[in-house]
Amino acid sequence: MNNSALLSLLCLVALLHQSLAASPQFNVIQFGAKPDGRTDSTSAFLAAWKQACSSTRGVTLYVPKGRFLTRSMLFKGPCRNSAIFIRIDGTLVAPSDIWAIGNNPNWIEFQYVNGVTISGGVLDGKGAPLCQMFHVVINFCQNVKLQGVRISAPGNSPNTDGIHIQMSTGVTVVNTKVATGDDCVSIGPGAANLRIENFACGPGHGISIGSLGKNVNEPGVQNVTVKSTTFTGTTNGLRIKSWGKPSNGFARNILFQHATMNNVQNPIFIDQRYCPDRNCPDTVKKRVRVSDVTYQDIHGTSATEVAVNFDCSKRNPCKGIRLDNVRLTYNKKPAVASCANADGTTIGLVQPGSCL
Ligand SMILES: *[C@@H]1O[C@H](CO)[C@@H](O)[C@H](O)[C@H]1NC(C)=O
Repeated sequence: MNNSALLSLLCLVALLHQSLAASPQFNVIQFGAKPDGRTDSTSAFLAAWKQACSSTRGVTLYVPKGRFLTRSMLFKGPCRNSAIFIRIDGTLVAPSDIWAIGNNPNWIEFQYVNGVTISGGVLDGKGAPLCQMFHVVINFCQNVKLQGVRISAPGNSPNTDGIHIQMSTGVTVVNTKVATGDDCVSIGPGAANLRIENFACGPGHGISIGSLGKNVNEPGVQNVTVKSTTFTGTTNGLRIKSWGKPSNGFARNILFQHATMNNVQNPIFIDQRYCPDRNCPDTVKKRVRVSDVTYQDIHGTSATEVAVNFDCSKRNPCKGIRLDNVRLTYNKKPAVASCANADGTTIGLVQPGSCL
């Protein structure tokens, strides 16, 4: 898996959402940026950041209308204030050869910052020629809020995860829409207290917890709420995926609530035996444990007959799976559920009939 990204957040604490109307403003134009879409404005942006970061009080870094060409940029802290508001009215454009040159795998990266808000703007990654990267990565962060974000990449572009979250707590993603060629959201090891709400996915591979368990020692995923989602023409809907290899990892206390599936190939899917390298013997004693996963009010249409698929391992069955008012149809008929080594309960109307 390629972990490069258009926007990467590696931070101690990033807290979005502040109003700083009265704070001093640094306009990137004053630092030499050109809104012509051709002149390299990288150093102007970095100079503006340097000033903003060294200010002892909150500041606004302003990007006016226009197209600003920038190479990869690392906005690094720690800063002397924890209230930097980056307001973008224009578009940041990546050079079309950005992925062929340079050694920073990320285009726009924030590191060790606290209290940064990014508001508005368009990030044009020019990904088409070599579109093989994640869009937004949140790694080692606390209390990040993504709101009203739109991500769009072609449905056939490989490895273009929309939002990847790992090793982070207290991340919230609301009112967001992702169209891409890979997972709309991928949730990796060490994600906890995550909430996704009002989210639309399609095309794409759905919202996926995983892949987990690629390593023996990895932190688990816990307390994840995914609420009010719509999936349209995606390969998966709500998926938990882990390698069939030895691991101490886990996924637990997961709530999937109010989801609409429109022609989704695998609307509900737990795959605990993911093994593209085919080296995952059934004798593996301890795999990623999956427990306490609730599916509540999940409805719509499946593009395949098996709409609910719990494929868990014999030695590490999935536990505490709850299906609460699930109604998925295939070709206007009730779809089919398939269970292997999954244990749980059903509440209310559940169609396809539960196999738990
Ligand atoms: C679970 O996560 C939510 C945020 O999504 C948080 O408010 C809540 O306190 C967390 N619960 C526990 C038990 O940590």
